[in-house]
Amino acid sequence: MMKKVYFIVLTALLMVSCQTPPSGETNMEATNQTVESIMSRRSIRSYKAEQITAEQLDTLTECAINAPSALNKQSWEVRVIQKPDLIKAINDGFINFAKGKEMKGSASKAQQEGFSVFHGAPTIIVVANDTTNHYSEVDCGLLGQNILLAAESMGIGTCVVGSVIAYMRTPEAKEVIAQLNLPENFAPLYTISVGYPNEWPDAKPRDKAKVQVIK
Ligand SMILES: Cc1cc2nc3c(=O)[nH]c(=O)nc-3n(C[C@H](O)[C@H](O)[C@H](O)COP(=O)(O)O)c2cc1C
Repeated sequence: MMKKVYFIVLTALLMVSCQTPPSGETNMEATNQTVESIMSRRSIRSYKAEQITAEQLDTLTECAINAPSALNKQSWEVRVIQKPDLIKAINDGFINFAKGKEMKGSASKAQQEGFSVFHGAPTIIVVANDTTNHYSEVDCGLLGQNILLAAESMGIGTCVVGSVIAYMRTPEAKEVIAQLNLPENFAPLYTISVGYPNEWPDAKPRDKAKVQVIK
């Protein structure tokens, strides 16, 4: 009798766990291209060398600036870097900055041969916020997500890279950052690596318990 109960419970548990989607996938049906792009987007950390087209870049930046912003202040500055020398200068500066520091995530490999904080992407977007506007970081975040999702819908890979910002805001980075031509009161907030993907990683787990519906 006990054996039978045990078997039934085990079977039920197995059925439930099979129905739970693995790591970030969902049972939700992708009902349209937007939902599909949201659900399929992953951070890409390996890129092809080929540059995205000017038309694609134009679509990405148009989508970016069509994000909502508090009082429509558009409190962002966006710099698209496609100049290998400048990307290298920022990467070299970051590697130097990271020496002797305990870095997290992929930045922990900063001292390894051939390291790229931008994962070797041919286009880097720097998003800078208005440090005098307390909504600016929200505005900038929304702008970035538009880029990520538009890119995904176009078969372009992206990765938000925040680790480099600690370096970009140091006095040592001043000369390099001057090339971004940012207005006063604006500071780099995060960057986005952009390019054709050379990997298709699985989704990472998401915690649905973070969402509560209160009725
Ligand atoms: C603000 C922010 C900073 C991030 N910084 C880095 C980074 O420095 N390097 C990196 O490889 N990924 C970075 N990521 C990407 C996250 O690691 C990634 O979004 C997260 O692990 C979830 O994976 P997914 O984007 O594939 O869904 C960052 C993401 C955000 C939102």
